[in-house]
Amino acid sequence: MNILQNQEIRLNFTDKLPSINIDELLSAEALSWTVVFPVACIIFWICMLVSCVSNVHPRRDDRLIWVIILVTTNILGAVLYFFLQRPKVLSFSALQNKGTPPPDTANSPRPPPPSSDARDWEGLEEKASAPPHENFVSPVPTSAVSSTSASFPSFMSSTNSSTTASAAAIDPALVPQRTLASGAKMPAIGMGTFGSDHVSAQEVAAAVLAAAEVGYRHFDCAAVYGNEHEIGPIFKTITAPGSGVRREDLWITSKLWNDKHAEADVIPSAEKSLRDLGLDYLDLYLVHWPFPNFHPPGCDVSSRSAAAKPYIHENFMRTWRQLEKLQRAGKVRHIGVSNVTVPKLKLILRDAEIKPAVNEMELHPHFQQPELFEFVRANGIVPVGYCPLGSPGRPDRDRTPEDTDPLTDPVITRIAIAHKTHPAAICLKWAVQRGQAPIPFSSKRRNILANLQAVSSDPLTEDEMAKIAKIDRRCRFIKGQVFLWGNHNDWRVLWDESGVISQ
Ligand SMILES: NC(=O)c1ccc[n+]([C@@H]2O[C@H](COP(=O)([O-])OP(=O)(O)OC[C@H]3O[C@@H](n4cnc5c(N)ncnc54)[C@H](OP(=O)(O)O)[C@@H]3O)[C@@H](O)[C@H]2O)c1
Repeated sequence: MNILQNQEIRLNFTDKLPSINIDELLSAEALSWTVVFPVACIIFWICMLVSCVSNVHPRRDDRLIWVIILVTTNILGAVLYFFLQRPKVLSFSALQNKGTPPPDTANSPRPPPPSSDARDWEGLEEKASAPPHENFVSPVPTSAVSSTSASFPSFMSSTNSSTTASAAAIDPALVPQRTLASGAKMPAIGMGTFGSDHVSAQEVAAAVLAAAEVGYRHFDCAAVYGNEHEIGPIFKTITAPGSGVRREDLWITSKLWNDKHAEADVIPSAEKSLRDLGLDYLDLYLVHWPFPNFHPPGCDVSSRSAAAKPYIHENFMRTWRQLEKLQRAGKVRHIGVSNVTVPKLKLILRDAEIKPAVNEMELHPHFQQPELFEFVRANGIVPVGYCPLGSPGRPDRDRTPEDTDPLTDPVITRIAIAHKTHPAAICLKWAVQRGQAPIPFSSKRRNILANLQAVSSDPLTEDEMAKIAKIDRRCRFIKGQVFLWGNHNDWRVLWDESGVISQ
């Protein structure tokens, strides 16, 4: 299983990294200590034993003495090997479990469970004295990583997911949180649910169940992902009586799609998402894009709608008023925006009666959006970061030749080697420590779990955070070409790069 995990780590990664191959580096050394050395010893001693008891020493007494010497030295060798190499072998097996601490809490150097305050990583990067990771007081004590489902509800022990079974889970109470302007707490990592056109609605729903099993409580849904009707029954299973998980333990987001911006369409659209998701209320409802521009699912990037319009603030505010009504009616607890820019957000903040609680925006080490990020936070809005891993599985239509890849960035991979983990884990640690809430998607249970573990232990040092701050490539993956209007061909106009709202 460990070897399989390492092969998974190699995905999109080591092929492009001839100089730094973490898997080979680690597995070769682990293999030599755990397998090659003991096997070589055993073969050597068996040969000696056979030669002694056969015809090499014809005198019976001599043979007996040789057998005693060999057996004694063999036992001594085994004892010596065990005491000298045991720590190394153990540390490699822990590594191959991708960061899961060994279950031996009694001997663990980690501290006892922290108070509930200690789990809040918000602004961790602001703590000037952030210690190096070796000394960090982990917000997740060893005991929080469950090797069985004993402390979790019965459905949590299910292994019927399509993903590879792994019994480990993180106690959701120990996952870092974000505090919204309302005072509500939202888990600082969520599970994305966009299947990128190649993961089916049923597979996404299975991944949501796997995510709940391993400890996620935050789910980022949207009507346009076309899978809310499949995810709804999963939420029902997760919160079924006796499961131990209540509706209020979950943070569920959905989004209004672009073709439903008309005043009369907003509330029915939210109600449809509620019906599909099987919920009485949403924790967060976002306007997915600030444009009412519709395009058919899966269309080519060159596709344009004749009815496409630029951002028209008055129209947007008409849509926003309906979201405010939804919040006042208790159908949604918070409302927010996505894919807006600083100039648009300034107008929205000026005119909104209920201010956006969240801005969902593309955020990863190669696209840090520092100006928007700082503006959002300065206005008490929580930045939620989509494509936190650089969306390696995004559809072809969202790829261009100039795109970069944060998972193979040498700075990220070097830090990953230092932390003995995957570059994906480094992107997520960076995101949470910087102050955003990443929402990675994965269809694989081991990645789903590894992503949650990544943000719950072994944070980056200040120096590592500073190094990642310097690798921003300003490389936007979700460019939104299909939302262009009129004769515009350059997607940059969607993002107001000139500092004013493009018309
Ligand atoms: N508001 C918006 O406009 C907007 C736009 C885009 C996305 N989103 C939201 O953001 C979510 C995340 O974006 P995304 O799915 O495009 O990008 P992402 O989370 O950056 O990347 C997902 C990809 O990374 C892989 N992956 C996940 N964990 C991994 C790990 N530990 N190691 C190696 N590979 C790993 C997954 O493959 P496997 O399945 O093989 O693990 C998947 O292909 C979406 O699902 C959606 O909810 C919102």
